[in-house]
Amino acid sequence: MILMNKPTVVTCGLPYTNGLCHLGHLRTYIPGDFYVRYLRRLGEDIVFICGSDNHGTPIVVSAEAEGVSPRTISERYHKHFDEIFKATGVRFDRFGMTDDPANHARTTQILKALIEKGYVYEKVIQQSYCPKCGRFLPDRYVEGTCPYCGKHARGDECDQGCGRHLEPGEILDPVCATCGTKAELREQKHYYFKLSAFRDYLLEYLPTLKGTVNARNYAIGWVENELMDWCITRMLDWGVAFPAEGADGLVCYVWVDAPIGYMSFTEEWAAANNADWKKYWMEGDRVHFIGSDIIYHHCVFWPAMLHGAGYEPPSAVVASGMVTIDGEKFSKSRGNVVWTKEDYLDKGLPADYLRYYLLDYTSHTRELDFSWKEFQARINNELVNTFGNFANRTLNLIKNKLGHIPECAVEAPVFEEISKSLAAIEEAVRAFEFKAAVDNILLLASYGNSYISNEAPWKLLKTDVPRAEQVLRNCLQIVKACALVMQPAMPDFAQKLWEMLGYQDTVEAHPVSDAMVPFENTVLGDVKPLFARIEDAQREELEAVLAKRAKEAKEASAKSEGKSEGKKDEKKNSGEKPMTEEEFEPISTDIVTIDDVAKFDLRVGEVVKCEKVEKADRLLRLQVDIGCEVRQIVSSIAKEYTPEEMVGKKIIVIVNLKPAKFRGEESNGMLFAAGESASLLIPLRDVPNGTKVH
Ligand code: 2FM
Ligand code: ZN
Repeated sequence: MILMNKPTVVTCGLPYTNGLCHLGHLRTYIPGDFYVRYLRRLGEDIVFICGSDNHGTPIVVSAEAEGVSPRTISERYHKHFDEIFKATGVRFDRFGMTDDPANHARTTQILKALIEKGYVYEKVIQQSYCPKCGRFLPDRYVEGTCPYCGKHARGDECDQGCGRHLEPGEILDPVCATCGTKAELREQKHYYFKLSAFRDYLLEYLPTLKGTVNARNYAIGWVENELMDWCITRMLDWGVAFPAEGADGLVCYVWVDAPIGYMSFTEEWAAANNADWKKYWMEGDRVHFIGSDIIYHHCVFWPAMLHGAGYEPPSAVVASGMVTIDGEKFSKSRGNVVWTKEDYLDKGLPADYLRYYLLDYTSHTRELDFSWKEFQARINNELVNTFGNFANRTLNLIKNKLGHIPECAVEAPVFEEISKSLAAIEEAVRAFEFKAAVDNILLLASYGNSYISNEAPWKLLKTDVPRAEQVLRNCLQIVKACALVMQPAMPDFAQKLWEMLGYQDTVEAHPVSDAMVPFENTVLGDVKPLFARIEDAQREELEAVLAKRAKEAKEASAKSEGKSEGKKDEKKNSGEKPMTEEEFEPISTDIVTIDDVAKFDLRVGEVVKCEKVEKADRLLRLQVDIGCEVRQIVSSIAKEYTPEEMVGKKIIVIVNLKPAKFRGEESNGMLFAAGESASLLIPLRDVPNGTKVH
C-alpha cells in the first residue's frame, strides 16, 4: 500500500493531438480523477497532472494529410481535450503540451544526464528510405512485416500482431506508408539508450511497483525475456532536438519526451503555484494511470530512463482495460465509436452518468463493453431507482410531510453502517479497485433505501410520529453521508444533493469523514428529483446514431473496395486482408499460467445434428458427438452458418464448462470461432471424436 502521508503526483497518459476524444480515452482519465478526488477528501496532498502528446510521427503524418503544421494540429486537439476534460469533471491541476518550452528543457536535461553517465551510444543503422518521396521513413512512415510474429506492422510497433515495440530497421519488407513504394535501406547515424544495462535494476524494482497487477506482471515478463537497447532518435524536424554534438537533424523519439511531460508539467504547475515540484518527484509517490497498451513504455523504458538520470521511478502504474462497443472492437473506420462530445455531451447527457458507468461497470483492468442499453439500465436501476429514490423519499417526507428537521439523535447502528462504508470505500480506492469503491457507495444508498422501505415512515407519520421522526433522522444522516462519498464519482449530482440538504457551501470542501458528523442544518433547500431516467426513446435515438455511422462506414468501405477491385478483393476472399490498427484486439495483459490452461478440457467433437433455436435468430442448437456421449451445445452462429452446413463438421469444444441456459435451451460446452465471421476452429487432420486437444 502506498503511504499516503507523502506528497503524491498522479498522472494520466497523454492523448496524442491528432484525433478526437472518445469513450475509450475516458476509461483512464475518469478513474484517475476519481482516485485523486477521493484521496484529497481524505486529506492527501496530491497534484494531478496531464498534457497532450504533440511530437512523433502520428502527429506529423496527420498534419501532412491535412496540409497544416504539426503545431497547428496539436493546438487544435489540445484545446479539444482540455474542453472535454473540463466538461467531464476531469480536473487536472495542469494540462500542458509536450511541445512546451519546459518540456524541451527537462527532456534536454535528462538526455544530457544519460549521455554524461554513459548510457547513450552512437550507432550507424540501416534505415528505411523511400526513393520516390526522397526521405527516410521513421516509425509510422513505414509499414511491413513484423520480424517476430509475421503480421503486418508499422515501423515502431507490431500493432496488429504481437504488440512489440519495433526498433528502426527491424521491420521486414518495408514499404513507404505514404506512397506504397518499396523502401530501400540506407545508412543513418542514430543514438541508442543502453536499456540492457538496466536489467538487474528493473528486476529488483518491478516487484516493488504498486498499482494494478497486470502492469507489474506484464513488465516483469518482458524484462525476464529480453531487454534490447533502444533507439532514441528520429530524423524529423518536429520534436525535441537531440542534445549531442553532431546529432544535427535528429530529434528524440516521442516516447522519450512524452513521459518527461509528466515531470515538466508538474514544474509548470509548481511555477504558477509557488510550489516545489521536486518534493513530488523526489520525495513523494508517483502514480501513473495509463491504458494497458502502453504498460511496456511506463514500466520498462520510463523507470530505466528516470533511474539512469538520477530520478525516482514510478511508485505505482494503474493500467485500465480497453473499451469495446456493443461487444465489438472500437473502430473509427467501421464507425464503431462513441465520440465524447458529439455522441454524449452534445446530446445533453450528464457527465456524471458517464463517470458512474465507466467507474462501476467492471473492474479497472478488465475490458469494458459499452452499450446504450446497459448504460440506460445501470442509470435507471441503480442511480434513479435506488440512490435517487432513497434521497428524494427522505427529503420529500421531511420537507412536505413532517415539515421540520427531526431533532432526535441518530441511532448507533446507522453510524456503524456509515463507518463501515467509509472504511470499505477507502480501502478499495487505495487498492485501485474503483468498481468496488463505487459499489460500496451504492451499497450505502441501497442500505438507506431498504431501511426506509422497511420502516415506512410515511405510515408511521399517521400512527407513531416520534418513531417516524427517528427513522427520518437516521435517513437524513445516510443521505448526508451519501452526498459526501459520492462526490468524487459524481461531483455535479453530489453538489445538487448537498444543496437540497440545505448546505450553502460546496460538498467538496468537506472531508468524507464529515459523514460521521451529525446533520446540522435546520432547514432543507429546494427538493427536486436528483436523477432523471433515460427513457427508451432517448436510448433508441442514441443507438440510431451508432447504427447510422456503422452503416455509412460500411458503404464507404464497400465503395473504396469496389474502386480498387482485383488485388484487394483477392486478399479479402482468401481472408488475408490485414486488420486495421483499430480492428486489432490488443494482446491481453492478463497473464495466465500453464496450469490455468490445463484446466480447459478441449476435445474434438462432430456435429451430428443441428437446428435453429426458435425465436432466437442468432442461436443454433447443436448435438455434438464427443466420443463418450452426444452433448447439446447452443451457439450464437446462426447468422454465419446454416444448420445443414454445420452437420458433419468436426469442431473444437470445451467439455468441462459449467452448463448454461440460452433462451431456455441448455448448453453443455462451447465451440470456438474466430473474428466477426465466426470462422470455426477445426482440426486440420481427421482424428476420432473425443480426441483431447493439447
Ligand atoms: O499511446 C498514447 O496515446 C501516447 N500518446 C501516450 C503517452 S503517455 C506518456 F508517456 F506520455
Ligand atoms: Zn509481431
